[in-house]
Amino acid sequence: MEEIKVELGERGYKILVGSGNLKNIGKALRDYDLGKKATIITNPIVGDLYQDVVKDSLRKEGFEVAIARVPDGEEYKSLEWAAKLYDELLEHRRDRYSFILALGGGVIGDLAGFVASTYMRGIPFVQVPTSLLAQVDAAIGGKVAVNHPLGKNLIGSFYQPRLVYTDLAVLKTLAHRELIAALAEIIKYGIIKDKEFFGYLEGRLDRIRALDLDVLKRVVTTCSRIKAELVSLDEREEKGIRSIINYGHTIGHALEVLTEYRVYRHGEAISIGMVAAARIAQRMGILDEESRERQVRLLERAGLPIRVKDIASSKIMGALTRDKKVKEEKTRFILATEIGKVEMRDDVPPEIIEEVLKEIT
Ligand SMILES: NC(=O)c1ccc[n+]([C@@H]2O[C@H](COP(=O)([O-])OP(=O)(O)OC[C@H]3O[C@@H](n4cnc5c(N)ncnc54)[C@H](O)[C@@H]3O)[C@@H](O)[C@H]2O)c1
Ligand SMILES: [Zn+2]
Repeated sequence: MEEIKVELGERGYKILVGSGNLKNIGKALRDYDLGKKATIITNPIVGDLYQDVVKDSLRKEGFEVAIARVPDGEEYKSLEWAAKLYDELLEHRRDRYSFILALGGGVIGDLAGFVASTYMRGIPFVQVPTSLLAQVDAAIGGKVAVNHPLGKNLIGSFYQPRLVYTDLAVLKTLAHRELIAALAEIIKYGIIKDKEFFGYLEGRLDRIRALDLDVLKRVVTTCSRIKAELVSLDEREEKGIRSIINYGHTIGHALEVLTEYRVYRHGEAISIGMVAAARIAQRMGILDEESRERQVRLLERAGLPIRVKDIASSKIMGALTRDKKVKEEKTRFILATEIGKVEMRDDVPPEIIEEVLKEIT
């Protein structure tokens, strides 16, 4: 198995990446000081597929296992469902010497992590990410949260897992659209940090889409390494280092909000956001035409949307500035200066944003 370290001193941990390793998780967890009482938090889709493998492997190593299920969907990443999970943990007599194992995509990881961070003032948790997005992004870095009716991820904290345990083989049951949406974030890592990886993706797209496990291993380990590095340099996103991960997210997020999260998968909105960011960078004179085209071409070949459908550019402009506290407050963009390098900019003229939005709608 590949091993990547998130260097955070006493809060540091490993990301283990393998394929077909889910059945060995019990053995892997023996080395950690987690207590003997495990609670697997999952949903019915992932649970039906994988909870027994995990449960049996844990029991074989002497762990006591309870399972708590949350319905499938972003709307269940809520305080209400966190409270139901507290009830279940109490019913199963989970104390401070118990741990939580999050088995699922980013929704389960964020919710289970939030519950772990607050139950009995915090108990250990292990991430077992099963979606490609969770494997390359959500499970790493300790951002745990639930949604509030007024917005996503508004209630949460930073709480690092003790281990991220990734099995690539589970991706074979993931819906194709989810796989493609995650590709947006994967391509993003290349653009913000790793030109060579970007080139690798250009040559291996078809093999990724066909779930070639060797290629997926390189993809997931490379992305995990980049995220781990950004997290260890700027755990709480205070120094402007970790925030480069938000490349494409300024306009992408506006699109998600405008469509009430119903039209685009997150990665699809981010794909359009990256196309817009690349156009803005070119208009600002910091990115050349060819580098912009390479980005757009790769996103399009991946099967991701590169234009907005059915939303007027003026609406997107409105959404970008709406939640600014002060009118003069600038919209922040992460912009690429070449493939593999980005910078944070607060000085994009509104006219450039408007022109670019017109071009992509
Ligand atoms: N904490 C962070 O740093 C961070 C980063 C990015 C995203 N997120 C959060 O992650 C969430 C999105 O994550 P996601 O894209 O994984 O969505 P998700 O958890 O909803 O998973 C997508 C779908 O795939 C299913 N699924 C997952 N693994 C499967 C498998 N192996 N086989 C079959 N089906 C499977 C899920 O049940 C779900 O229906 C959002 O809530 C977002 O806010 C958090
Ligand atoms: Zn994202």
